[in-house]
Amino acid sequence: MFSSTTRSIPEPRRVPRHLAIIMDGNGRWAKQRFLPRVAGHKQGLEAVRRTVGACIERGIEYLTLFAFSSENWRRPPEEVSFLMNLFMAALEREVGKLHQNGVRLRVVGDLAAFEPRLIDLIRRGENLTAENKRLTLTIAANYGGRWDLMQAFNGLVLAYPEKAGSYTEADLEPFLAMSYAPEPDLFIRTGGEQRISNFLLWQLAYCELYFTEQFWPDFDAAALDAAIESYQKRERRFGRTSEQLQAAAGAVSPAPNFSKNA
Ligand code: IPE
Ligand code: IPE
Ligand code: MG
Repeated sequence: MFSSTTRSIPEPRRVPRHLAIIMDGNGRWAKQRFLPRVAGHKQGLEAVRRTVGACIERGIEYLTLFAFSSENWRRPPEEVSFLMNLFMAALEREVGKLHQNGVRLRVVGDLAAFEPRLIDLIRRGENLTAENKRLTLTIAANYGGRWDLMQAFNGLVLAYPEKAGSYTEADLEPFLAMSYAPEPDLFIRTGGEQRISNFLLWQLAYCELYFTEQFWPDFDAAALDAAIESYQKRERRFGRTSEQLQAAAGAVSPAPNFSKNA
């Protein structure tokens, strides 16, 4: 279990430990090129490959990608089924390479809605890579922040019915889908929209938010570095004053603020 940002303050780091991304703008990328929307999704997979590699190189420990929301079922059935097939093909083709690169794969979301073959591929990929330590790659598929909170509440109530009326944040957290990861430090949304779209609602409490106009299929290492650079300029106060932060940094070391890759 990781400590929560509302109860303890994470140590400052130059590079975010956990990066969460809403990969948006695939459809518009395709439209700009007079291609069908699904061509954007296919190209988006290339950006996923690049981003995983760039995160490993930069020492990011957790990368979480929003691939399909609980509301994306509202899309045309042909697009939904293309996305499911793309997910299956990607798992078939990429899991071996992820494993070779020391990546641990996790998938979070309501998997019950997926066809058995896809669930089987997910479980096999997770099992194969379970012991890997370099990067934890989480794919949020049929995920919704509200779904996550509700399944966690329900799990908690069933496990400790006698505590009803006095549950704490710490009681709930182990039941959340991503209890194996610290909360995200940096959130990126590509595609120009500035909203959360029911992504990690609980876990984004103190996350630094970064929005870029760039469409997801164009996202690359340089775009990632621009986001990290913006992150490095932020002052993460977690409720404290700027003066308190500076005093705390001074007490630890006389060197400039956030100077070491803690
Ligand atoms: C994100 O790109 C991919 C998914 C939601 C699966 P979009 O498909 O939402 O692309 P735009 O926002 O329509 O351009
Ligand atoms: C959010 O993108 C979900 C994913 C990237 C998987 P959407 O394109 O579905 O979000 P909205 O509908 O514009 O808010
Ligand atoms: Mg979109």
